[in-house]
Amino acid sequence: MLSLLPVECWEYKFSDIFRGLTVALGPKNRKKLFDIDGIGGCIPVRSGRVALIAAIKALELPPGACIGIPLYCCPVVFKAITMAGCKARFIDIEPTTCCISAGDLFAKRSRLDAVLAVHMFGNLCDMPKLQEAVQGKPIIEDCAQSLGSRLNGRMAGSFGTITFFSFRSGKYLSAGEGGALFSNNADICSRLNRLIAAMPAPGRVDECVHVAMTYLRSILRSKPLYGVAGHLLWHIYNRTVDDAGKSPIILSQIYRSDLAIAVDRLLRLDYVIKIQREHADFYSRTLKLGPSILCAEKPGTFYNRYLYPIVFPSSECRDSMANYLRKRQIDTAKPYKDIVDVATAHYGYTGDCPIAEQAAKRTLVIPGYYRLKERDIQRIAQCLNEGWSEITK
Ligand SMILES: Cc1ncc(COP(=O)(O)O)c(C=O)c1O
Repeated sequence: MLSLLPVECWEYKFSDIFRGLTVALGPKNRKKLFDIDGIGGCIPVRSGRVALIAAIKALELPPGACIGIPLYCCPVVFKAITMAGCKARFIDIEPTTCCISAGDLFAKRSRLDAVLAVHMFGNLCDMPKLQEAVQGKPIIEDCAQSLGSRLNGRMAGSFGTITFFSFRSGKYLSAGEGGALFSNNADICSRLNRLIAAMPAPGRVDECVHVAMTYLRSILRSKPLYGVAGHLLWHIYNRTVDDAGKSPIILSQIYRSDLAIAVDRLLRLDYVIKIQREHADFYSRTLKLGPSILCAEKPGTFYNRYLYPIVFPSSECRDSMANYLRKRQIDTAKPYKDIVDVATAHYGYTGDCPIAEQAAKRTLVIPGYYRLKERDIQRIAQCLNEGWSEITK
């Protein structure tokens, strides 16, 4: 199991511990803004989920307001919406991008007060169509997975009324936690600034523990420890901790160590995206998976290829492929596979998003991150093609 290839890249080196601790124990002069190319100065926040709560509050929606969100989404988003005192109204997705459908949004628009446009996997929502569909209602742009993606030459994050990013480990900057908020509207910006400034700042001991835990989690999610123990530990965690206990939302300011590491990592973002796009291109050219959808880029789009999802024709086919790859030491993920149960049990989902339900049953993510070697990428593609022949024979 030493050679099990993790599906995500949780990067936090020994040098990051040093960097994190130096900042955590140093003077508390907080950097005011976090600059993202093509976006501008963003307000640093503890996490994407905290950013979403602040965004909803800054919009000053009526109590119990309805927010349209794609059913196929990270469940912590549903939790954050509830915590902000709003209700989730589920919208279906586009099968070719796994992002919120402008058509379904238009059909359900009358009961909505705002919309959350999630750029899933680094793919892009059709922002002009969404803007048309909501007819002036605010759009929160969720760029947790789409840092560096572009639509018609414009950076993801530059379309919404408010935008947020996430730097959580496993995502592009993989800083531990951390996120950033952006708005072009000066009033909204000052409300966001006030909301974030009112949150408590983490203390030095808390910061140091966070740095140590981030390092520990990251080595457990990386080769070789992932295959030896990490994979099993995550499996046990997911089995034993219930939905309510998973993904806690802690309202505080950003860890200064996360912010420092995110700022450093932003400098190499273009390089990392370039490599991940090369890996994705290789998969798109080489994989021969019949009718499976490989999330091709549409004209005018530039995906950051944060994740490489494949939507299989059936859940049996997806699960057989995951098992086939696992036996060949390649880990995969089935994103949001329980989302229908979670949304039904806790957030009032009533079954009107058939495409998203299918995506939850049939999507498999394969490793594609920049640290993989050319031979890894070739082996993954070869195993997928061989697996496909075996599963479909
Ligand atoms: C699409 C999406 N939105 C929001 C979040 C929340 O971000 P964070 O984990 O930084 O709170 C995540 C990740 O967990 C996500 O994948």
